[in-house]
Amino acid sequence: MPEPQQQQRKKLSLPGLFKKVASNEPITWLTCYDYPTAYLQEQAGIDMILVGDSLGMTMLGYESTLPVTMDDMIRHSQAVRRGAPNVFIVGDMPYMSYQPSIETAIRSAGRFMAEASCDAIKLEGGVEMADRIDGIVRAGIPAIGHLGLTPQSVSALGGFRVQGKGALQAKKIVDSAKSLEQAGAFMILLEMVPDRLCQLITERAEGCIIMSLGSGPHAHGQLLIYHDMFGLYPRFKPKMAKVFGNAGEVILNGLKGYVNEVTDKSFPQKENWFTMPDEEYDELVSLLD
Ligand code: KIV
Repeated sequence: MPEPQQQQRKKLSLPGLFKKVASNEPITWLTCYDYPTAYLQEQAGIDMILVGDSLGMTMLGYESTLPVTMDDMIRHSQAVRRGAPNVFIVGDMPYMSYQPSIETAIRSAGRFMAEASCDAIKLEGGVEMADRIDGIVRAGIPAIGHLGLTPQSVSALGGFRVQGKGALQAKKIVDSAKSLEQAGAFMILLEMVPDRLCQLITERAEGCIIMSLGSGPHAHGQLLIYHDMFGLYPRFKPKMAKVFGNAGEVILNGLKGYVNEVTDKSFPQKENWFTMPDEEYDELVSLLD
């Protein structure tokens, strides 16, 4: 980890994101769940961080995102904010933190802002969630919609599969995008929809930023799951994820090295421990006699 001689970076704001879109500069967005990774992402110049409820799978080892609680999300969002004070951070609303009612949704969104200094929240769902987006935006909280493959509904969607391949299902996604935009979402994430559907929604968006996760190059920016990029999630690697470096392999080799060196007693070496002056040690021994 580099020394914290943090390159001072201006905090990216909501108008800053729209400026990027206006100047045709793609927005970079990654998931992140912890302090050291947030520090590195800020240093790398990432525009936005999603503290995703995918942390249930990537960090906590659950089989889905459903067991994740608001308290889990707040704890991780706080750590990420400490590591990345100048990145635009989005808190992901976990399962049942917004579905029950508009009031529940506003209260949960408010916790991300008040307790973790997030810049915006994201929630999953289409037309049926437009009133939650409307309530949250009216409460003064920037909101992002999430359409296509929405992991909290994976059971209803029949698994982790591309959404909107057929015209009728694609039309539903187009209609949902419009209703979220009209409800006040400043951004919509399209996950695993065909590239042409993503392009069509991007072209029809009026003042709403469209982001792609596995939905092709024609959106205003891209999101990836950090753990997929670096070989850090052992269970599977989705097609949409490019591996930018195999940190998992580097760490595994390091761990094996540690096991070997402790076993063969080549670790620790002098530079890895602390010494005590002779006179202090002698006095200690005499004190014990
Ligand atoms: O939780 C998450 O990381 C997400 C992405 C899959 C978009 O919602």
